Amino acid sequence: MEAKRKLIFVCSGSDCKKAGIKSLKKELKQAMKEGELKGQCKMITTKCMDFCKSAPVMIVGNHICKKATKTKVLEQIKKP
Ligand code: FES
Repeated sequence: MEAKRKLIFVCSGSDCKKAGIKSLKKELKQAMKEGELKGQCKMITTKCMDFCKSAPVMIVGNHICKKATKTKVLEQIKKP
């Protein structure tokens, strides 16, 4: 049976773009394709989530990842 994949909601608002969310998204996509995240999550792009002061913002599972970094996102994905 396939393991349950976590959802990652990625903000596409202007503040998050300015804060570098595109390169973070690219790094995560790479990890999802061939690295440590293979088969573990699915990424969904959203509009602004109203946490702009904490950009870049991603929601991983049910956790709001403010000032998101690859390390923070990986920690959340690996949590049971
Ligand atoms: S621009 Fe990303 S939370 Fe508003």
